[in-house]
Amino acid sequence: MCGIVGYVGRQKAASIMLEGLKRLEYRGYDSAGLAVLQDGDVALLRTTGRVAGLAKLASGKKLTGTTGISHTRWATHGGVTEANAHPHRSSDGRILLVHNGVIENYAAIKKFLLTKGYTFTSETDTEVLANLIAYHYAKEPASAETSRFLEAVRKTLLHVEGTYGIAVLSPAHPDELVAARKGSPLILGVGDQENLIASDVSALISRTQNVVYLKDGELVHLTPSGFTLSTLDLADVHPVIDTVTWSVDEAELGDHAHFMLKEIFEQPVALENAMRGRFAADGSTANFGGLNLSPADFRQIDRFVFTSCGTGWHACLVAEHLIERYARIPVEVDYASEFRYRNAPLDRDALFFVISQSGETIDTLAALREAKRKGYKCMAICNVVGSTIAREADGGIYQHAGPEIGVASTKAFTSQLLIAAMFALYVARMRDLSFADGVQYVAGLKAVPGLARRALAQAPRIQEIATRYAKYNDFLFLGRLDLFPIALEGALKLKEISYIHAEGYPAAEMKHGPIALISDQCPSVFFVPKGELFNKVVSSMQEIKARKGPIIAIVPEGLELPDGLADEIIPIPDCHEAALPILATIPVQLLSYYIAVARGCDVDKPRNLAKSVTVE
Ligand code: F6R
Repeated sequence: MCGIVGYVGRQKAASIMLEGLKRLEYRGYDSAGLAVLQDGDVALLRTTGRVAGLAKLASGKKLTGTTGISHTRWATHGGVTEANAHPHRSSDGRILLVHNGVIENYAAIKKFLLTKGYTFTSETDTEVLANLIAYHYAKEPASAETSRFLEAVRKTLLHVEGTYGIAVLSPAHPDELVAARKGSPLILGVGDQENLIASDVSALISRTQNVVYLKDGELVHLTPSGFTLSTLDLADVHPVIDTVTWSVDEAELGDHAHFMLKEIFEQPVALENAMRGRFAADGSTANFGGLNLSPADFRQIDRFVFTSCGTGWHACLVAEHLIERYARIPVEVDYASEFRYRNAPLDRDALFFVISQSGETIDTLAALREAKRKGYKCMAICNVVGSTIAREADGGIYQHAGPEIGVASTKAFTSQLLIAAMFALYVARMRDLSFADGVQYVAGLKAVPGLARRALAQAPRIQEIATRYAKYNDFLFLGRLDLFPIALEGALKLKEISYIHAEGYPAAEMKHGPIALISDQCPSVFFVPKGELFNKVVSSMQEIKARKGPIIAIVPEGLELPDGLADEIIPIPDCHEAALPILATIPVQLLSYYIAVARGCDVDKPRNLAKSVTVE
């Protein structure tokens, strides 16, 4: 949700910021802009559309300044226009600002500022912030010049309700930037004779691996040679400098057509990384050092509550099935956005889990805070190290899937499924799962990366199916038990990147309503299970076939469907049943991807979406 990059140093700020913005574009791509201080003035460029458009605009200008701020926008307040694009400038010209978040009391502040003679040219809440800083700046004594700028930002933020990650500059302070965060991520990059600020480490890693993750309520003052960190009430903060392990290459597209495709093919490695070092020496269970709970603590737990949003919520549903099946411990799953307001009664000895790739999703963060407020211990399964959710949780499991840049989540999802399967094993072995079954389970999970490679080898055949099915405008995805969440995930993947209407259902629910949609114009994607439900799912397929609905069946190797029942069969490698959701996901990721490409959609930047939803 909006990307920010700010730079203060000795190099030309514009090109560094443009490179960073390109990496942050997944956060929003409605408009882009930058401001650079030079020759005692400001060069301000803004445009609707993509960062590439901004880069084109910049290429015609002589941008030599070494201090700047920049932004890529996902519109909240105000439409997609150049006037609403960031950076915003105060009407007296003294302050420029980029913002990620929502200022809730902007209307009252604006009314006040109008009485003080400030004027507005956009519909945004951000311009209000720029003018309020200018107002406080004008009131500050001019004697202590450096602190005057910092003080004006600090005093402004004391009056602001809502969420923000901001980076601010002032032409009167050419070698300074001020940045602050509350509810929106912001990371300081500590360089050699340069310092940067950005919404995400991917925008920093080409300049520095040394970062400070800002906390809510912190304010940072940056110059080329250093930085000072404080809270809004002026308490000093001792900065903790972390080292980023992601490399620049991991955040680059390389030879791939899209980040989504690259990340689909990175899944075997992401799955290996999720398991690395996490199996016990006896080969019968998993280990999670980061949970900070002993086996005795786990024995006290009589329920798990899992919450997340979107794709992560589907991973929670799979976790529910696996934990209940193998560990026989009840699991409740809630949308984070609902949990935070539902005031749900919880068991006394419940353990709370949130799942978030980015670790910044505002609803998931709020759910975590709500659970902690009620006194529950809260664990996080996160991909982004140092993210807000990872830091605020009582313990957790890092995914180590590497940067996920495609807006549609792929490798992060299957890595969450694998971690869910490992966690189910971990608690199952503390209850009734035998040593022998544990050993078999571990062997089954260790085989997954290799089996995922085999599933990916189906890509050409799936592309060919996708080309033929791209003409349809409605799809059903149908699965049972732990393949039902994969049906939901398949439908979500298809709709978000191809704009095709798609719904996921438990296969047997289909005849309670959705079957009315079936015709030769509405294909169904079936996830065929092994075991006792195989025949039931075959019956559901027969019901669709009888109504001329085209069928694509995803079938574990070794299972035989009745002749002519499915129009297309995509085999997946046979595997341990705890790994089946992972291997069943890969074909629907590829199917959605190739259908979207066949329809000419911008796969990595689907309309209206942005990765990492940091506003409500
Ligand atoms: C869909 C997708 C989203 C995210 C959701 C939560 O492909 O990516 O549904 O899963 O916005 O994001 P995280 O996991 O970052 O909290």
